[in-house]
Amino acid sequence: MTQPLAHSLDLRQWLETARDLGELQEVCKAHWHLELGAISELNVKKEGSPALLFDEIMDYPKGYRVLTCSTSSPARLSSLLRLGHMGSHAQLVQTLRGMPKHWQTQAPQFDPVVVEKGPVFENIQSAGAINLNQFPAPFWHEKDGGRYIGTGCMVVTRDLDTDWINVGTYRVMMHDQSSVGLDMIPGKHGAIHYEKHMKAGKPFPVVIVCGADPLGYLISGIEVPYGMCEYNYIGAILGQPVSVVRGELTGLPFPSAAELVLEGWAYPGDERIEGPFGEFHGYYPGKAASAPAVKIERVYFRNNPIIVGSPPAKPPNDYSYSKAVMRSALLMDALLAAGVPDVQNVWAHEIGGARMFNVVSIKQRYAGHARQAGHILSQCGVAAYMSRYSVVVDEDIDPSNLQEVMWAVATRTDPDLDIDIIKRGMGSKNDPMSIAYAYQAPLTSKAVIDACRPYDFLTTFPAVAEASKALQAEVRAKWKTLLT
Ligand SMILES: Cc1cc2nc3c(=O)[nH]c(=O)nc-3n(C[C@H](O)[C@H](O)[C@H](O)COP(=O)(O)O)c2cc1C
Repeated sequence: MTQPLAHSLDLRQWLETARDLGELQEVCKAHWHLELGAISELNVKKEGSPALLFDEIMDYPKGYRVLTCSTSSPARLSSLLRLGHMGSHAQLVQTLRGMPKHWQTQAPQFDPVVVEKGPVFENIQSAGAINLNQFPAPFWHEKDGGRYIGTGCMVVTRDLDTDWINVGTYRVMMHDQSSVGLDMIPGKHGAIHYEKHMKAGKPFPVVIVCGADPLGYLISGIEVPYGMCEYNYIGAILGQPVSVVRGELTGLPFPSAAELVLEGWAYPGDERIEGPFGEFHGYYPGKAASAPAVKIERVYFRNNPIIVGSPPAKPPNDYSYSKAVMRSALLMDALLAAGVPDVQNVWAHEIGGARMFNVVSIKQRYAGHARQAGHILSQCGVAAYMSRYSVVVDEDIDPSNLQEVMWAVATRTDPDLDIDIIKRGMGSKNDPMSIAYAYQAPLTSKAVIDACRPYDFLTTFPAVAEASKALQAEVRAKWKTLLT
């Protein structure tokens, strides 16, 4: 077994990498109340925008910082996933093919390693001395229910009956100076741990990591199998076990180089009003509601701590790019595993929160190939939850380019023939359209759009009126200054 990295998941090391890549910009004197959130939101919608490191935040000492937009470019995401430098979506998706399965298989070999000390222990505060307002947790958007100190965070919990440690990304709202609200959707692993404790009438120990290398929240924000610890999965990506320290009160493990960690308990009966907060699809689908409150009894932080922020909003948002890449790779694997041949590329579009508008390009091999690909894209395990539109295009269309995709939909479909509707499919109570569902349960219809040239007219279908790829390349090379 390899030795643990010295203090793995150190955000500051990754910030150096991002800086060297030209992918990081420092921003001074923004206000934590709405301004920081709006700057980040506008930044992420800009082509080629950097990660933002906010310092000298209004009302806070220099050095108390917030990082946003950390995962929203191919270069940043590939460096976080330790894949080397990649400059395009397609390259990332192709490289990631098969990797999630590989990481999952390797994970059991990478138990985290417990160390005694780490930078996270530079400052330790106990109950009585704790005031969460000392950290510049942003009030992200006008309609939010409060300040969210946890968005790009890792919430660490333990199963009541086994040793299973789970790490999930669940939003964390500040209630007052020493308690926070935790929003865990029923069925999420943290929620299962919580419910078991409540049923047994026991306090629920929680550790919340509010800042670390964003690889941490990237992985705690995806579906890692029930019973598996995300630290193991991260270790498999790093090729080294994650180094962790244990909380003084709960014994729960957290990265030894974490920036800011809150430790405490959710007590039976202590649920408070949490939210509202936007969702990944760009809406506030629910109202403020009752959620577990966590009483914070220890705070650990590095000197000059950095909060990692990753708030949801109308896409493209802070984390929609990373979701699009990860889900596209999983969809690609699922299509191939289901036996669909000649899949060229897949893209789970950010506009659909990487769930609701997915596109696959294929090289048509036989009659019915396109429908087969479309229905599997709509219904495979990775996609079924909240998939709405699944589009199949020919290999000359880049599935990540909406302009091209919609051109194919506009020009290669006969709506009557080429749109299949699946009724009573898997929906969600978080779907903004759930308000208009015609069902008593979270069911929804789904469309499969076959935007490929009709297979029976493949040879006679009109030719595309544009310069050939070879001519385009030649002219681009010669007229570089004009055309780039
Ligand atoms: C930035 C971000 C914020 C998220 N916020 C929440 C949340 O507030 N509540 C929730 O249940 N899931 C949230 N998720 C989704 C979960 O993190 C995801 O479903 C993950 O698989 C949960 O971990 P678990 O499978 O161990 O329960 C969020 C994901 C990301 C990336």
